[in-house]
Amino acid sequence: MSNIVDELVQDYIRSTLKESKTFLRELEEYADKNLVPIVHKEVAQLLKVLLKIHKPKKILEVGCAIGYSSMLFADTLDKNCEIITVERNEKMIEKAKENLKKYGFEDNIKILEGDAEEKLKEVEGSFDMIFLDAAKGQYKLFYDLVIDKLKTGGLLVSDNILYKGMVASDKYVIRRKKTIVKRMRSYLDYISNCDYLDTSLISIGDGVALSYKKY
Ligand SMILES: C[S@@+](CC[C@H](N)C(=O)[O-])C[C@H]1O[C@@H](n2cnc3c(N)ncnc32)[C@H](O)[C@@H]1O
Repeated sequence: MSNIVDELVQDYIRSTLKESKTFLRELEEYADKNLVPIVHKEVAQLLKVLLKIHKPKKILEVGCAIGYSSMLFADTLDKNCEIITVERNEKMIEKAKENLKKYGFEDNIKILEGDAEEKLKEVEGSFDMIFLDAAKGQYKLFYDLVIDKLKTGGLLVSDNILYKGMVASDKYVIRRKKTIVKRMRSYLDYISNCDYLDTSLISIGDGVALSYKKY
């Protein structure tokens, strides 16, 4: 199983979406051509609606890639926000920097270059929203490094949590992904049962977890 949602359903949902702005479309085309994994279109739409409701002033992102999601966030918020995003892949960093400059987001988005395991320890201050979208086997590790930086009333969004359906059922698990799947299940169990979070697992895109921090 490569897609957690029936293709007809996904196509229908996508057909309801408005066309992306030109600069986002250019980034989507680049990502498609160069196999850069960016947020699924319907997840991007969900995030846009959440951003409009929640109006975060400060966002921390783990997994920048070419800067697509961070620029989508900043654009949705009319640049009334500060975004810190972490990326370890040099080629991605180079492209993301180029994109931030080209599309005018350098003042709003700061890239922390290096492995999140190290870089997140250096992040100071508190955030209204945290977006986890990096190595799928490391979500609990990232979570432990960021959760104290999420304000009460803040939103934690974790992407790709169903991991092509493998997390939901053993029948889809590929042998070499077993450890990642095990770790993701344990992460989801944790955020679903943690007293100070209210979490909802949503089966769109590759699966998204929304967690509200109660205290
Ligand atoms: C799915 S992509 C991010 C996509 C981006 N959020 C978007 O939607 O436009 C994941 C990125 O996380 C980066 N990454 C994975 N593990 C990481 C880690 N431990 N530290 C820093 N970056 C990491 C990868 O290099 C990759 O570019």
